[in-house]
Amino acid sequence: MMLKKTIVLKLLVGFVYASIILDYAESSYSGVGGYHDEMRRIALVKAAHTVRNRASQPQSYSTVTLVPQRSRVHHATEYGADPTGRLDSTEALQQALSDAFGSQVDAHLMEGVADLGGAEVHLDGGTYTISHPLRLPNISGGNFMIHGGSIRASDNFPGNRHLIELWPSSSSLLYEDITLKDLMINSNFRGGGISVINSLRTTIDNCYISHFTTNGILIEGGHETYIRNSFIGQHINVGGSHREKDFSGIGINIMGNDNAVTDVVIFSASIGILVAGQANVLTGVHCYNKATGWGGTGIYIKAPGLTQTRILNSYFDFTGVVAEDPVQLQITGSFFLGNAFVLIKSLAGVVCGVNIVDNMFSGDYTGVKIVQLDQSNGPFTNIEQVIVDRNTVRGMVLKSTVARGSVWNNGTTWAVDFSKVLLFPDLIKNVQYTLHAGAKFPNHVLRNVSGNRVTVESDMPVTATLHVSVDQSMVGYI
Ligand SMILES: *[C@@H]1O[C@H](CO)[C@@H](O)[C@H](O)[C@H]1NC(C)=O
Ligand SMILES: *[C@@H]1O[C@H](CO)[C@@H](O)[C@H](O)[C@H]1NC(C)=O
Ligand SMILES: *[C@@H]1O[C@H](CO)[C@@H](O)[C@H](O)[C@H]1NC(C)=O
Repeated sequence: MMLKKTIVLKLLVGFVYASIILDYAESSYSGVGGYHDEMRRIALVKAAHTVRNRASQPQSYSTVTLVPQRSRVHHATEYGADPTGRLDSTEALQQALSDAFGSQVDAHLMEGVADLGGAEVHLDGGTYTISHPLRLPNISGGNFMIHGGSIRASDNFPGNRHLIELWPSSSSLLYEDITLKDLMINSNFRGGGISVINSLRTTIDNCYISHFTTNGILIEGGHETYIRNSFIGQHINVGGSHREKDFSGIGINIMGNDNAVTDVVIFSASIGILVAGQANVLTGVHCYNKATGWGGTGIYIKAPGLTQTRILNSYFDFTGVVAEDPVQLQITGSFFLGNAFVLIKSLAGVVCGVNIVDNMFSGDYTGVKIVQLDQSNGPFTNIEQVIVDRNTVRGMVLKSTVARGSVWNNGTTWAVDFSKVLLFPDLIKNVQYTLHAGAKFPNHVLRNVSGNRVTVESDMPVTATLHVSVDQSMVGYI
């Protein structure tokens, strides 16, 4: 019995790939053929190393078929893109994208999304000027990466577009597992940086995005865009910029669900991150984009009624968090510096399932409250499971939804005023008290809790201390 085997050797010679396809017959009854084949293989490998410098192949290697196999790495410079940024490279880069999307393998990711087999557009460390967006081709594709260089908008780049666009032109087309990595994106104050629309599982990693007028990154629809380890700012500065009051635009505009922003700095923009979707998680974000005092916001949660946003281990540097009618919002392990605070804004008066716990707040002793309510559109009327507790505060006014207090008196009335510390006005859902009256046994009663002021009265004058604990949340309440 004869077995036919094919060995494909891929050798990287400088920048040139050479592939050798070796067809040979091997006797399955003898180990001897294997030895000779191995020797022949080694000879071929040596020969292949010299391919680049030789005009023609020696005839003696008649069994060798050299098949030019295009690499899946599409180098921008090989397409005539200008790595100095002087000439317009839009067409060259678009052609590289087009070729990458042409090299599909016989597989798919999600149904209907062709597998590009790990194809890459490699920017070769150059800086390229483009006058039109680099929009991914109008065919589906996944398992693809653009990386390793700088892209800059020309002076006539359209102001309503983004430099790199994952934007399927039909709703049935999808991009999946596209990676944008190790990029410097300069929008040249002509529009935005990257847009990811109706795409699945996109990675944006180690990108520096600047000089945008609209969004650094726009996510719209789709699922699971993961932005990590990136620096995003309209104007390049390290804080205290004299232009700060003019900062505009949005660092990351999330109009979709299930995305993650991890270890990202937003150093200039009017809004650092705008969240208008559900189930997004923001971790390790440092916002010093535009101070609250100039009208800026670090993270703006604009998904009234249901947000399911988690803000974890983040750093709000003179700019804070705004949440409109939040339902299911977690802010924890974060640091608020320079009077930065959380503002809960009423639209329809809803605030439910909100945890603001275990954070640090630091300010300048001018009386700024760590959590504030904006009830200019009407008061909060639907308040459930809101817990603001265990925050440490220095130089700001602590606000909380749970509080404890004690007061001593010699008489028949004891009152503890919680109105300064409790977040919601005139709301005590649960109160517990103890009247510690020494040797006496007076009858006493909880007389009043209105205005966040707890009053206890006794039926005879005694010297006693009142201990009170109050709660504005209904967690665990039956
Ligand atoms: C994209 O491709 C689809 C299907 O081939 C086609 O119907 C559509 O017109 C194309 N859109 C653009 C903008 O070229
Ligand atoms: C409490 O008040 C009464 C009179 O109202 C007085 O006789 C008594 O000394 C007071 N006790 C203390 C500890 O001040
Ligand atoms: C409870 O206290 C409020 C002021 O905090 C007062 O207006 C109200 O009359 C008191 N209610 C009772 C029953 O004493």
